Amino acid sequence: MDFYQAAKEEIKRSADIVELIGQYVQLKKAGLNHVGLCPFHGDKDPSFSVSSTKQIFHCFGCKKGGDIFTFWMEYHKVSYSQAIKELAEKYHVVLPEKKITPEKRHELDLKEEIYRINGAAAAYYNYILVKTALGKKGIGYFDKRSITPEIIDRFKLGYASEDWDGLTRFLSGRDVNLEKAEKAGLLITKKNGGYYDRFRGRVIFPIFTMEGKVAGFGGRVLDNSLPKYLNTPETSIFHKGELLYGLNTAFPHIRETGRVVIVEGYTDVLALNKHGFYAAVATLGTALTQNHLRKLKGFSREIIVVFDADSAGKSAAVRSLPLFLNEGLSARVMILPEGDDPDTFMNSRGLDAFLSHLDRAMPLYDFYIESKLKTVEPGIAGKLEILKEVIPVLSEITSDIQRSVYIKHLCERCDVSESVVLTELNRLRGTVSGKGNIARLESVQTGSGVKSLKEYHLLNLIIHSPGIAGRALVDDFKMLISTDEVVKIFNILAEEYRLKKNIDPAQILEHMQEGQERDIFNEVMLSEPIYKGPAVEQAVLEFENRIYDIKLSNSINEAKSSGNIEKLNELVKLRKAI
Ligand code: UTP
Ligand code: MN
Repeated sequence: MDFYQAAKEEIKRSADIVELIGQYVQLKKAGLNHVGLCPFHGDKDPSFSVSSTKQIFHCFGCKKGGDIFTFWMEYHKVSYSQAIKELAEKYHVVLPEKKITPEKRHELDLKEEIYRINGAAAAYYNYILVKTALGKKGIGYFDKRSITPEIIDRFKLGYASEDWDGLTRFLSGRDVNLEKAEKAGLLITKKNGGYYDRFRGRVIFPIFTMEGKVAGFGGRVLDNSLPKYLNTPETSIFHKGELLYGLNTAFPHIRETGRVVIVEGYTDVLALNKHGFYAAVATLGTALTQNHLRKLKGFSREIIVVFDADSAGKSAAVRSLPLFLNEGLSARVMILPEGDDPDTFMNSRGLDAFLSHLDRAMPLYDFYIESKLKTVEPGIAGKLEILKEVIPVLSEITSDIQRSVYIKHLCERCDVSESVVLTELNRLRGTVSGKGNIARLESVQTGSGVKSLKEYHLLNLIIHSPGIAGRALVDDFKMLISTDEVVKIFNILAEEYRLKKNIDPAQILEHMQEGQERDIFNEVMLSEPIYKGPAVEQAVLEFENRIYDIKLSNSINEAKSSGNIEKLNELVKLRKAI
């Protein structure tokens, strides 16, 4: 029985899953259920369903599903116990005290502690800025940039003075463990012991999570020295590829309007807010990622990215295209006049001018093709270059309808026939290597123990053909295994091989502890070898190919998420070549 059972039931009585998930995912009533775009995979048609009567959710696309606790864990990427803790807090349910080891407690609490220390630091920087003489420099700076006291207050802006240890002293005065403050990225260890402040002589922008906790900071110099912005380094809670500056305050406005503007800088978010445009967030000096989009897509139908008019801004816009395509999102791009960013634009031209630019924002895909057309040589060679670059990206779009819309557009703009593009696409999307032995054998019946046939085949191969153990008992082969028990068996076999350079399955079985692993191992030992003679070598090769495929797909996904089109092209071609 779950230790938190009673508390969980009480939370469930207070919470309504449709209301809770509805805060993060835009849901529409459809029959008995509510449906929306799944926040957990690149969902293009609403396959995410929430049942109010059963109080569960399920995605028909990625198969994720469960109750409010599962949702919270997955969505906020927290542990089970953390999810219970946070939901209990949200619904005012008191949790029973759990006895756990001090080490475990330490580990569980460290993240919370870092949030707490960050919160204290943010309050300190804000206090220095607005209440002390030291803060005058910061106030002067914000003033110069027409950042008002209301904005300072809404975004809890601060100032880190030039002192080497202002924050260090403040935190130790409040009994904060400085080692943890170092882990929070706020302090830096001195060579000969002790700590000093990371942020000095900078105005401070606290970066909040969606829940309003301080995950980290950005600090800007007041002059032209470098680096212009210093950010919290990656910590256990600060991940640049997931956080968006301003999301906590923008969230209700994005939900209300169904629209979000993504800008590049902290000050851009502030200027937009000051002029009354609240649904704006900024990336933290990194490229847009899939994770960013997943945070937003649940409650914003329309995403507009604002990039600087310079060439870096334009190429960032171009690079982000596959991300949007893969999330099934159509984005628009707003390009501001040369030399402006949203901050300078708002302060010189105001909200109405911004809104009218916003209305004229161009679909990202059009923008992509238009900017490509401008950079290549006119004529057939240039068009071919575009096709070569765009087709692999299109080949990664899974929705047929969407793909065909894009293809049509591409053909029109480049003035080539659709059949040319389709032929090339089909070549790229062609099936990966003939499936051979393993696939054919997938119909073989196994006993009750092993869940996945492929794993069963692999085990069968290794156990009955110890001669190939050296090739198969390497870490890469674990990619083919997803059942815990089979992983354990694999590890035992690999260790045996490492020590003795050969494996004797019968002897291993003798020393294996009772339990499911032993049952499975036994079953495989007793079953007939699936591969004999030359089929052994062929099977190893096929498993190796499969591993290669998995690695390639992983790299493709990585290239997609980071928007690295050159890499993506290269990899898609590699896959085609298999
Ligand atoms: P920009 O250089 O475009 O600056 O960086 P900005 O936001 O317009 O800043 P101001 O107006 O000069 O103050 C855009 C974003 O890139 C990140 C920051 O998040 C910044 O807001 N950045 C920039 C860094 O992380 N480090 C840097 O050194 C520079
Ligand atoms: Mn700026």
